[in-house]
Amino acid sequence: MQLISLRQLLDHAAEHGYGVPAFNISNMEQGLAIMNAAQACDAPVILQASLNVRRRYAGDRMIVNIVRALAEQYPNNPICLHQDHGNTEEACLSAVNAGFTSAMMDGSLEADAKTPAGYAYNVDVTERVSRKVHGVGASVEGELGILGSLETGTAVEEDGSGACGHLTRHQLLTDPDQAADFVIRSKIDALAIACGTSHGAYKFTRKPDREILAIDHIEAIHSRLPDTHLVMHGSSSVPQYLQDLINENGGEMAQAWGVPVDEIERGIRSGVRKINIDTDCRMAMSGAMRKYIRENPEVFDPRKFILAAMAELETLVLDRFQRFGAAGHGASIQVIPLPEMARRYREGVLDPRVAVA
Ligand code: G3H
Ligand code: 13P
Ligand code: ZN
Repeated sequence: MQLISLRQLLDHAAEHGYGVPAFNISNMEQGLAIMNAAQACDAPVILQASLNVRRRYAGDRMIVNIVRALAEQYPNNPICLHQDHGNTEEACLSAVNAGFTSAMMDGSLEADAKTPAGYAYNVDVTERVSRKVHGVGASVEGELGILGSLETGTAVEEDGSGACGHLTRHQLLTDPDQAADFVIRSKIDALAIACGTSHGAYKFTRKPDREILAIDHIEAIHSRLPDTHLVMHGSSSVPQYLQDLINENGGEMAQAWGVPVDEIERGIRSGVRKINIDTDCRMAMSGAMRKYIRENPEVFDPRKFILAAMAELETLVLDRFQRFGAAGHGASIQVIPLPEMARRYREGVLDPRVAVA
């Protein structure tokens, strides 16, 4: 089956009122585990790769071919292959040229992926990417507002990526009126918003309440932009059972709090259509792998512990497909080929629809 564009998939999700988890992958095994879960519950799928995966781990050829093979092996589950956090026009265009059907141009930060960018820069670079990427029928996600903690005013990402320096509350919460202007001018298909989430396991220092996880703010953005597909980054829930699985098997994770799944469900009721999850998947795989190796110290066939890791990932992913309402929608979607999507962009059929408040 051909890969689906993000725009077609999120239009379907909006029409039917569900959200699609977007899982980061870097290898075949994660892809297989996610697709097994999708097949079990008939869900459409978003698989995304970071620049680190493209440039410093698997490489474009490997990732694109893995995902194309998955699309053949699971013909009833449409897959969108998305570039996560492209930092430049080149990053987005090279992804689409390599076979990705969607790209995120994250112009909330400058090309160093650290310095908070000005609004004019964000509009300009994102609009240029939209124009070129839509030309081949692929989709674009933009970002307005900066991911980071409302508790500390920093990006709190454990692997060192994300904004540097102190961020104001204004930077950490997407402004609804500016969002409307941004969507019209940049012509994006989906808007990543900032609401207090951040990447990695250590998002909050306590169970989040409305002070530090501003789902109410998503509701405000949605009432200003009811037709815009919203994207929630940093949406791992960092479940306690996975922290325990890791720590009971030799890991040393500090106590962490993520985004509760029921808060994501609230977001979905307010227009969130794409929910980015990476950390939870990492935790599921590494926890299960640790447990298997600890319980079976004589085993040195990696397939044994990788299969255990895949099973734990599949359980997690199945839960998210079901809770976000994506389950049951895979086989009913007829993929529109990218050249036809390109024609629709040319004819203005897919222009962003922004209601006037
Ligand atoms: O954007 C954050 C994702 O979790 C990707 O992380 O750059 O380590 O692959 P990565
Ligand atoms: P998590 O670190 O919460 O899984 O977020 C991933 C993400 O937003 C990727 O873009
Ligand atoms: Zn992200």
